[in-house]
Amino acid sequence: MNSKPIVNTKPTVLIAGITGYLGTRIATEVLNKGVMNVKGLVRSSGSYDHNKQQQLNDLKAKGVVFVEGDLLDQPSLDDACEGVDVIVSAIKGTPSKRTGIYREDIMLSGQLNLLEAAMIKGVKRFIPSDFSLDYFKLDLGDNHNLDFRIKFAETLKQSGFEYTLILNGAFTEVQFSPFAQLFDFKAGTFNYWGDGEQPCDFTTYDDTAKYTAEAIADPEMANSVLKVAGDVLTMKQLLATYEEVTGKKLIEKRLGSVEELKAWIVNTKQKASSPFEYLTQQYHYAAVSGKGKLDKLDNSRYPHIKPTSVKQYLSQGNF
Ligand SMILES: NC(=O)c1ccc[n+]([C@@H]2O[C@H](COP(=O)([O-])OP(=O)(O)OC[C@H]3O[C@@H](n4cnc5c(N)ncnc54)[C@H](OP(=O)(O)O)[C@@H]3O)[C@@H](O)[C@H]2O)c1
Repeated sequence: MNSKPIVNTKPTVLIAGITGYLGTRIATEVLNKGVMNVKGLVRSSGSYDHNKQQQLNDLKAKGVVFVEGDLLDQPSLDDACEGVDVIVSAIKGTPSKRTGIYREDIMLSGQLNLLEAAMIKGVKRFIPSDFSLDYFKLDLGDNHNLDFRIKFAETLKQSGFEYTLILNGAFTEVQFSPFAQLFDFKAGTFNYWGDGEQPCDFTTYDDTAKYTAEAIADPEMANSVLKVAGDVLTMKQLLATYEEVTGKKLIEKRLGSVEELKAWIVNTKQKASSPFEYLTQQYHYAAVSGKGKLDKLDNSRYPHIKPTSVKQYLSQGNF
């Protein structure tokens, strides 16, 4: 009896940034859906702590094939793109492992390298590392990091590739981290600009990964933007939610109006030696001014995803 060879007809997704917070989660969610093969781009020089290494081992055990490549080394990306149908980029600027120089422009130069390799190898769809508030509504100069996304998206749209852009507002987790400069647990304060009444979008890493896994396998999301949020809260509601869930009180500190925040950024930018001296405030400006607000959410496109509200996130013991 002749047995037919088993042909694997599933499309293949290459995840750049698979070792990162978001990339690892996207890989897990794509594997959970079971409709795509997963390749993961890793830098040869990568060295990870025990937990991260365990996560990568788990992904390998579930079928992820790891390929070596660096977004700053164009030739290294050709092999990685071989046989790939879709690329999801979840990269973020980090110190270069070759030189130690911080490369935040990787969103443009690195992703352009990947796009070129994808073009040569016939990849069909490209999902860039956006995962932000609505940068299309911002002006160049409003946000140092998002400028690179604006420029990359322009090139991507002109390239002829299918694209899917994923916007999730701000990561919920990051709002409680020192980077956001909102919750100062040591000083017992909650610090914000504006009147505290502007609704802002918050989504967890896990939920963003779930929506991404859906969108990349969704033919109708070709050349589209997916806007999702797990919660929409004002700054005052964010503080009230924290206080309600934890039972802890913080002193509410209004730092100034949105106009004063804008002036603070302009002033600080003039004397800054690094964008990190005003980057947090630029994100905060886009949020509390409403300029980067996601206008119409697409959560209902994937109704089986029940995204986590800020209250649920906090209630899960994250604080
Ligand atoms: N909306 C928000 O509130 C918010 C907050 C945070 C992040 N984000 C965005 O979410 C996305 C993912 O962020 P994340 O926090 O998951 O980032 P992350 O944990 O720092 O991971 C970054 C990934 O990029 C990879 N990478 C960096 N340089 C590379 C290079 N030259 N070649 C190949 N890979 C390279 C890293 O690989 P190695 O392991 O080798 O370093 C790592 O896998 C980014 O677009 C980020 O800007 C949004």
